[in-house]
Amino acid sequence: MSTGFGSEIVIIDEQWERIGEVLDLYYQVLYRDYGLTEDDDWFHASAGGELAVALGPDAEVLGAARLLPAIGDSERQLRQVAVRPESRGSGLGKALVATLEWRAADEGAETLWLNARESAIPFYERLGFIAEGEMFGSALTRLPHMRMRKRLRG
Ligand SMILES: CC(C)(COP(=O)(O)OP(=O)(O)OC[C@H]1O[C@@H](n2cnc3c(N)ncnc32)[C@H](O)[C@@H]1OP(=O)(O)O)[C@@H](O)C(=O)NCCC(=O)NCCS
Repeated sequence: MSTGFGSEIVIIDEQWERIGEVLDLYYQVLYRDYGLTEDDDWFHASAGGELAVALGPDAEVLGAARLLPAIGDSERQLRQVAVRPESRGSGLGKALVATLEWRAADEGAETLWLNARESAIPFYERLGFIAEGEMFGSALTRLPHMRMRKRLRG
């Protein structure tokens, strides 16, 4: 899918030949500054799922987001939404989430939920997610997070 900004979004899984570039993005954007090493298990590969990856004009990885497999019938979890700092503010984060919303809805999901970093809550609100419950600390980064949810259909 083209985003209209000279980049495109592809859907891959963790078997993708360039998954190392996605993990590099995730480590740099989401974990490096919070005391985690590259060898720590922050990706949780065994959780599986699919990833939407934004590729730039030279096919470089600009951003990614992950949709975990369905566990129940109607809910899916979104995780690890990250865009390189120099590529932010041009709609890539929104396009990555929208791609996985369509994917989840296509596969029968009615709602999408995620644990949002406090700093990203306004971004998810802009995309229609609604905060629920109390703020809690992430076991990985210790950053405050909030559960958020979006109804995909109906
Ligand atoms: C959060 C993040 C993915 C947003 O990516 P992005 O590509 O800059 O976002 P977009 O350009 O698609 O923004 C979509 C909309 O959200 C708004 N938005 C984005 N970040 C925002 C913020 N921090 N506060 C308020 N609004 C925000 C944009 O203005 C835009 O609004 P519009 O539709 O009216 O134009 C990116 O900032 C990032 O990678 N942050 C660090 C990692 C992170 O915290 N990830 C979330 C983990 S839960």
